[in-house]
Amino acid sequence: MRALDLDPTRLEELAHDVLGAALAWTQTLDERSVKPDSSGSQLLALFGDVLPESGLGAEESFGLAALLDHSRAQNGRFFGYVMGSAEPVGVLGDFLSAALNQNVTSWRSGPAATTIERALVERFAHELGCDGFSGTFCGGGSSGNLMGLAMARESKSPANEVGARPATVYASSEVHMSIPKAVALLGLGRDNLRLVAVDEAFKMRTDALRAAIIDDIDSGRTPIAVVASAGSISTGAVDPLEEIAAITREHDLHLHVDGAYGGLAALAAPDRIGPLGLADSVSLDLHKWLYQPIDCGLLLYRDRDLARRTFAHTDDYVASLADDPLEAFMFFEESIELSRRFRALKVWMSVRFHGLGAYRASIREDLELAARLAQKIEDSDDLELLAPVDLSAVCFRARQPSTASLDSFNRAVLAGVNERGRVYISNATVDGRFALRACITNHRTTIEDVDALIDEVLTVAGALS
Ligand SMILES: Cc1ncc(COP(=O)(O)O)c(C=O)c1O
Repeated sequence: MRALDLDPTRLEELAHDVLGAALAWTQTLDERSVKPDSSGSQLLALFGDVLPESGLGAEESFGLAALLDHSRAQNGRFFGYVMGSAEPVGVLGDFLSAALNQNVTSWRSGPAATTIERALVERFAHELGCDGFSGTFCGGGSSGNLMGLAMARESKSPANEVGARPATVYASSEVHMSIPKAVALLGLGRDNLRLVAVDEAFKMRTDALRAAIIDDIDSGRTPIAVVASAGSISTGAVDPLEEIAAITREHDLHLHVDGAYGGLAALAAPDRIGPLGLADSVSLDLHKWLYQPIDCGLLLYRDRDLARRTFAHTDDYVASLADDPLEAFMFFEESIELSRRFRALKVWMSVRFHGLGAYRASIREDLELAARLAQKIEDSDDLELLAPVDLSAVCFRARQPSTASLDSFNRAVLAGVNERGRVYISNATVDGRFALRACITNHRTTIEDVDALIDEVLTVAGALS
């Protein structure tokens, strides 16, 4: 027997245990607390002893029951950040993808996987108004944004051979942290990211954008790109794409859309997002508003040659020798990654199983639930809505006239609500004010969950008054 041999019957037993745990998790998700009762030291004691010299066997080595009990349940009452909820058919797809272990570098390494991924890219591009765009699946919005801005740099201030020079990038003051991170990593200098002012609805002010670009040009700087948010992280504000695209065309800049949070809402409500097809690159997160298990980002781009100029640097040992253009296709010439997971499988399986219409309906329902939540907040004398609801992020706070600092009062409300473990919310800063933030990108969330959120906030705020 060789060191890692596994008896087929034993493997079946193990598979049964693991599948059983996964099913138990999915089936009890709704009953579980969104805040597991765990402490750091307790978990270190449980899971910290990682690598025994001799194998322990399934029960001792996995401790699956403890793993479940100390994991956070993304059920319908989890409203924090921008979280999807691992649609179960997608989960099975991820499992199968690991078993198949296709290395989706290219058609040659993963023929079916590459064909499926390319077909999905084409279909999503079409559905999102980006006909003719190419694309690659990636780890998430951060890597999509990094690759989109790498293309912008290579297009407007080529750096691959000679190194990066400072160049200016524009985004609203509400932009997600992954953009300054990308600007820094690309050697452009974070000081060269211009945070453009927003209007009262937290959307980029295009007059301020135009003025900032002209000011930089007049000062001898090199503007290269504008990042528009299709769903900003705090309030879900959608920047005015058409007006921004007119400015990027006028000044020959790359337009990148960060649609990691909101871009997929265009499947259900295209008017809320605007014409994504005007962009040069669009970053999307299918592990957010297409409910897929993490990780599953998708970067779409208009110009495949630009993607190749940016990312291709092919060694002889991987160069394709095929003549057929389909079979010669290589993702690694258009992406940061060489070895790549078969991310498309979960999407392909779950969307084919449910149908795209079911996804549109679920996104529409999330939008309606967010509108209902906003309405309930507006109807309450004890709550205050802090920002318009473009998509499904709702920023609000509890009123407390007798308290000196509404910010610290609401910090205490947030802590109290999350401590109780029935619902989970996160926070945001809205116009300098501390906001409670609930975001609905979860196919499991129901009207009852939204009502539970209001109950919890009012109960905690009442107890603190
Ligand atoms: C607007 C926006 N951009 C980018 C990201 C980063 O995405 P990821 O966490 O998949 O890297 C997020 C995550 O919440 C986001 O909301």
